[in-house]
Amino acid sequence: MCDLHDHHGLPPLAADEFVLDTPFVREFVATVRERIDRSASAADACEVMRPVFEEALTERDWLPLTFQRDVPDSRMGGGIGQWLLFRSADRSLCLFSLVVPSGSMTPIHDHLAWGLVGLYAGTQDEEFYVPGDGAIELARRRPLVPGDYYVLVPPADDVHRIRTTSAETSVSIHLLASDTGCVERHTFDEHTGAARPFRSGYANAECEASGGS
Ligand SMILES: [Fe+2]
Repeated sequence: MCDLHDHHGLPPLAADEFVLDTPFVREFVATVRERIDRSASAADACEVMRPVFEEALTERDWLPLTFQRDVPDSRMGGGIGQWLLFRSADRSLCLFSLVVPSGSMTPIHDHLAWGLVGLYAGTQDEEFYVPGDGAIELARRRPLVPGDYYVLVPPADDVHRIRTTSAETSVSIHLLASDTGCVERHTFDEHTGAARPFRSGYANAECEASGGS
């Protein structure tokens, strides 16, 4: 069970953080946690989380526009915004929206955590990569429309890049088994495959525990 609650080396927070504190998110998180707790592996947990995640991708009224805004000076560049919605005190689970303006794309990056990633608004092209020695190979490319999602169990499909293809900003929902914005991950040079340390942060949350009461 320990592999399902990895804190990724981050110190615990004082408490769970429901940045978007609504009945929908509370119930979503409670259901997800209950399903993780009765799973024997990350793949099992993803499988039993599918229905509740699919519902979150199709429900139109739970994600306020505040969490669908781009962020002009973000660490990812391109106005890409990463908005924290929920994270657990032990840093082993988070829910966030990733907002990519029209025409923008993320760097090629990894996640280093298992979970579900799906499209909520707009359209995207997604490219999966396999980094190698001095090179990086494009494994496959696929177009995404709202409701499309994928199960992420690293190392499979952990390195990708997304680009917004719609005239409007795209919004994807990430349910991942880490405090993803705070974990040191990697971006990859698109020509050489060279990995660089990368911590995306959040537009609306800090990574250091406040230390207060
Ligand atoms: Fe990603």
